[in-house]
Amino acid sequence: MTFSLFDDDALGGPTTEQLGPASFVLRAFARDRASALLEAIDRVETLSPFRNMRTPGGHTMSVAMTSCGSLGWISDARGYRYSALDPLSGKPWPAMPDLLLNLAQEAALAAGFADFTPDACLINRYLPGARMSLHQDRDERNLGAPIVSVSLGIPATFLFGGMQRSDPTERVHLRHGDVVVWGGEDRLRFHGILPLKHNDHRLVGPRRINLTFRRAG
Ligand code: SIN
Ligand code: FE2
Repeated sequence: MTFSLFDDDALGGPTTEQLGPASFVLRAFARDRASALLEAIDRVETLSPFRNMRTPGGHTMSVAMTSCGSLGWISDARGYRYSALDPLSGKPWPAMPDLLLNLAQEAALAAGFADFTPDACLINRYLPGARMSLHQDRDERNLGAPIVSVSLGIPATFLFGGMQRSDPTERVHLRHGDVVVWGGEDRLRFHGILPLKHNDHRLVGPRRINLTFRRAG
């Protein structure tokens, strides 16, 4: 048995690691409320299901996505953008559950960002092998607000780079319950996720769920 099912439980209490002048990993910050978060995500998913979107270049993304909040992130042949409507349902995205909003605000505050009011939560679902190539989060109208990124389920290697795609990247191992916050002068740093290794998580199964909270509008 090589799976580290209980990896996240073996790690002890919350600690903070600094990645840059305005970027932090809040270890285990969301772990205690993970079950409730997963239930809330299930409810979002029944209204706006996960889907593998197409990039403007015509590729199908390996990560399946949905959103909640007043804006959701979409990608298709016309480009990347935020939309008030889910193109699958033709309706507004599900409201952002208070549990998610509160977590985002608490994590932002813990990283030094007061008054964070996200209007978009992009929900990413990775199966083993799925990845996200290096990119900047720059479709948001408000680049003054941070990004709050919550990891649930099987672990992943997060790449945190610089302001140029070619800059060196730091590898950060993210486990169930970890939260990464980046803003201020670090807000436009390139980041991505290496292909996920096969694994299984006792609550989430063989997948990783990532929530990223943004002020998009
Ligand atoms: C993202 O950059 O939108 C997702 C990052 C992650 O899955 O941790
Ligand atoms: Fe991103």
